[in-house]
Amino acid sequence: MSFLSLCSTESIRDAALALKNRHLVAFPTETVYGLGADATNSEAIARIYEVKGRPSDHPLIVHIASMNGLGEWSREIPEYAISLARDFWPGPLTLVLKRSELAQDFITGGQATVGLRVPAHPVALSLINEFIAIGGKGIAAPSANRFGAVSPTTATAVEEELATYLQSGDLILDGGQSLIGLESTIVDCTGPAPMILRLGAITPLMIEESTGLVALESNPSAIRVSGSLNSHYSPKAKVLLDVVAEAGDGLIAPDQIPTPNGVIRLSAPSSIEQYARELYQALRKADQLGLNLVVVLQPGGDGLAAAIRDRLQRSAFVE
Ligand code: TXA
Ligand code: MG
Repeated sequence: MSFLSLCSTESIRDAALALKNRHLVAFPTETVYGLGADATNSEAIARIYEVKGRPSDHPLIVHIASMNGLGEWSREIPEYAISLARDFWPGPLTLVLKRSELAQDFITGGQATVGLRVPAHPVALSLINEFIAIGGKGIAAPSANRFGAVSPTTATAVEEELATYLQSGDLILDGGQSLIGLESTIVDCTGPAPMILRLGAITPLMIEESTGLVALESNPSAIRVSGSLNSHYSPKAKVLLDVVAEAGDGLIAPDQIPTPNGVIRLSAPSSIEQYARELYQALRKADQLGLNLVVVLQPGGDGLAAAIRDRLQRSAFVE
């Protein structure tokens, strides 16, 4: 069975209805594809955990259409969180705030906070808007991959990853390749200053410029963020960082690095943006080709490069 659907006005409306009927709808965002469900319905949310194979105490991000959703889903919103929302929404930024009664335990993993994001993708936004038009409040969506695996950045990747776990009535909206290619920056906004829980395309510097506050570093053991487990974002192939690739290995490296003889070049990005956009597809390709080993030369620099290195270190982590 194929779950893929193009994004005509009609199919987006059908997808919103499917969500209302407790089905799952995978949809494109500018970061990665999400596996969506009605954020107020515990049965629909239970299916997300089943399909992902994810522990049920890990919280989900609620995707909303605009800043209006902030007041519905959260409370005691500090001024600096308003600045962040104003400056970066719609965009690759998730704000963690004190939850309202709308955000129940099955969304927050029992925590007193909720993660909220307005995605910058026309298909995602029109899906959320259609869903709200028929009485929905928000779409809960983790990345549309099995727990611990690489996030999908195309609809085909979602289908390869999840089709065997989906059911009749579930859908995958095809909105092309995700432009950014890395998951959103997550900022905890429950303290006196913003605390970055996950690095992404919205950088610490951008957060400081927006809020006038110094962004703090997270303490991963204090809060459950599944992306902050040591091993995550991993293909089946073994990932080795910053070593010399040998014949038969896959290679992901900036375009000025030549490909040694017999090495399979998976990506040769010419900018840091292209590096982020192609990374997960390149790791997937390694598995499709049945490679045992992928060598990745990490990009230098801060901002998006630091976010890329964060993911690479987790995908290379061996327990
Ligand atoms: O770019 C993204 O954020 C994508 C797209 C689909 O929006 N979503 C995504 O979701 O990456 P997910 O579930 O794969 O990763 C979200 C992370 C998880 O590690 C989760 O633990 C954390 O956000 N999270 C969600 N709510 C939280 C909360 N209230 N407090 C702390 N962490 C939270
Ligand atoms: Mg994820």
